[in-house]
Amino acid sequence: MCASANRIEGMSEIIKARNDSIRFIDLRTQRQLLGAKIDAAVARVLEHGQFILGPEVSVLEGDLGSFCGAKEVISCSSGTDALSLVLKAKNVKTGDAVLCPSFTFAATAEAVAWLGATPVFVDVLPHTFNICPRSLALGISQEVGPQSSCGDTGRSVRATGGLRCD
Ligand SMILES: Cc1ncc(COP(=O)(O)O)c(C=O)c1O
Repeated sequence: MCASANRIEGMSEIIKARNDSIRFIDLRTQRQLLGAKIDAAVARVLEHGQFILGPEVSVLEGDLGSFCGAKEVISCSSGTDALSLVLKAKNVKTGDAVLCPSFTFAATAEAVAWLGATPVFVDVLPHTFNICPRSLALGISQEVGPQSSCGDTGRSVRATGGLRCD
């Protein structure tokens, strides 16, 4: 049996034993499954004392890079920081419009507004919940016009090179 099947099996045993319904967020079950590993990792960090940019950060970034096929990875303290970092790297600023998926967490639009730009929501596809390309095209033409890079609204729309950041 593969590792993920083992994990699912372990989880269903714990849920059965507790005679519970499945909760949306179940940190107690997660703790039962991963607690020992997490405790050992925290103890390791407390022992070497390098709390900022320690060896665990390099390992995480390396593993994430391999998983995503990315050459460079920068880990962040939060999802909001990650979103803000990408927007800053793309020089998003006051007056810009950033097209955001309508099905997302509040932080997606919050990071845009934090930089003084305006979040503009576009629809998502019903099966994948990713941005609908037609709705995106409509959003772009409403913001900047089909031909120009700066239309009636006077805003520029930043392209993030097709990379999804949320
Ligand atoms: C899709 C999505 N983006 C961004 C965030 C923000 O992450 P954080 O709370 O770590 O800032 C969340 C948090 O739940 C999220 O679900």
